[in-house]
Amino acid sequence: MSIKYKKLVVGVTGASGAIYAQRLLLHSKEIFNEIFLMMSRQAYQVIETEQGIRLDKEHFEISRWLGSSAPNIHLLDDNNYFTPPASGSFRHDGMIIVPCSMGTAGRIANGISNDLLTRSADVCLKEQRKLILIPREMPWNVMMLQNMTKLAQSGATILPASPAWYHKPENFNELADTVVSRALQLLGVDHNITPQWMQEEVNHGK
Ligand SMILES: Cc1cc2nc3c(=O)[nH]c(=O)nc-3n(C[C@H](O)[C@H](O)[C@H](O)COP(=O)(O)O)c2cc1C
Repeated sequence: MSIKYKKLVVGVTGASGAIYAQRLLLHSKEIFNEIFLMMSRQAYQVIETEQGIRLDKEHFEISRWLGSSAPNIHLLDDNNYFTPPASGSFRHDGMIIVPCSMGTAGRIANGISNDLLTRSADVCLKEQRKLILIPREMPWNVMMLQNMTKLAQSGATILPASPAWYHKPENFNELADTVVSRALQLLGVDHNITPQWMQEEVNHGK
């Protein structure tokens, strides 16, 4: 499996874990030719709370958030359906929603596509494209668990924001990368962001 169109759709919502979105975008802009980004209103507040970066929705410079230029990231208006991901006719390699709030997960699970982000997710499911949700909440009530089951049954992949520690991450970025690298892997990206378990040891004949 490998990426075909080199186009990725990314949704960022108001769950905790803005660092996951930031790390995913930083890696993805080097891998994909084009990234179609949509952010919920609440996502901006969480970024400001967690990362101390106040982003103006109207004059939002992606590069200021990422600390790096990103000419291939298109920030779309979450209310504008006259954009490629709103239609199944637009071909891309998949959509990642990171972090994914319980609200957004619930809306997608129940077919309530009331903005571009949820509409784009809906399109992925109907077109049988990769849709990866990276939800963050704890604990999960029964309704949340049922929504996750519905999503998985509809073809989505649920990849909880549960970072792995066995790579011995040395900072928050490396820790967040254990999650986002797995999402990229699920899309078919061959990456070296997080090492493969025991591969080095085998290569060195241990
Ligand atoms: C700092 C902060 C952290 C939050 N963390 C979470 C979270 O981890 N998971 C979650 O489902 N909602 C969380 N919320 C609540 C969501 O932002 C809220 O439910 C919002 O309506 C989600 O809208 P959206 O899905 O359109 O972004 C958080 C809110 C704030 C302000």
